[in-house]
Amino acid sequence: MAIPVILDCDPGTDDAIALLLALASPELSVLAVTVAGGNVGLVHTLPNALALTALAGSEVPVHAGADRPLLGAFVSETGVHGEDGLGGVVLPRGGTAAPGLAADVIRGILRDSAEPVTLIGIGPATNLALALATEPALAARVRQIVLMSGAWAEGNVTPAAEFNAWSDPEALAILLASGRPVVFTTLELTAQALATPARLAAWRRLGNGRSLNAACDIQATVSPSRRLGGIGAPLHDPCAVAWLIRPDLFTARDCAVRMDLGPGPSRGRTVIDRWGRTGDPVNAKVLETVDADGLFALLGERLTLLP
Ligand code: RIB
Ligand code: CA
Repeated sequence: MAIPVILDCDPGTDDAIALLLALASPELSVLAVTVAGGNVGLVHTLPNALALTALAGSEVPVHAGADRPLLGAFVSETGVHGEDGLGGVVLPRGGTAAPGLAADVIRGILRDSAEPVTLIGIGPATNLALALATEPALAARVRQIVLMSGAWAEGNVTPAAEFNAWSDPEALAILLASGRPVVFTTLELTAQALATPARLAAWRRLGNGRSLNAACDIQATVSPSRRLGGIGAPLHDPCAVAWLIRPDLFTARDCAVRMDLGPGPSRGRTVIDRWGRTGDPVNAKVLETVDADGLFALLGERLTLLP
């Protein structure tokens, strides 16, 4: 049976590939796509999500969500994703957003679903947190929360924090307090999933479909990470979706995770207790390794299934 999921995102170059992967994979039933401002603001992330679902030939409803975190404001990451969020790659315009704001739609789906729903968060966790904070009882309808978020070592937006966690740390804390299983795809995991020129070239040889071509074109605009030696760009968001589809490609460790919500330089840090030093109760699964070749093969195979 396909896993019912809600995909919350902020497209975003890596969100784009993650969204296409989710829509192409029969293991998942994407009930809705919800969008946050995150990377480049809702003015871009929402039309990007609409364009991507149309590109994939999907009728999945796309809903607008938060264009700011629970506290403060989003800070765009145009240096990675470009001003428009897709590296300047222009896709055919998608449809219009479905009625209903993300948090309300998430709650409605949780309330009405015949079975528990998996929440996938690959942007700031604001929409997911708003849904669960306003109706905590619905957490019982959540099968698990799978995130691209956090790092146990160095951050990528500050030395201490990863971008999604840093963008709305209070939202992440709400998810951790929900009592539902939380799975973290951290920067240490995604650093193993580098989109190198050779891997992109291998994708391009797989076919000539519009979705595959768009994924390659979008990913090609992302500069190799200097944090990772400049040999490729880490495919952050697709790793979170891929874990749901092929968990056998990954290993994981159960950990206690807490958020730094302070105002200082480590705000937004995910304090991941990998060695049980705090004695805090385990509240998360942290992905540790990925078979990168297997991951890129999965992505290539699925992208060729799309129009
Ligand atoms: O730190 C990586 C995360 O921040 C990814 O979700 C990427 O899309 C950006 O939002
Ligand atoms: Ca993202």
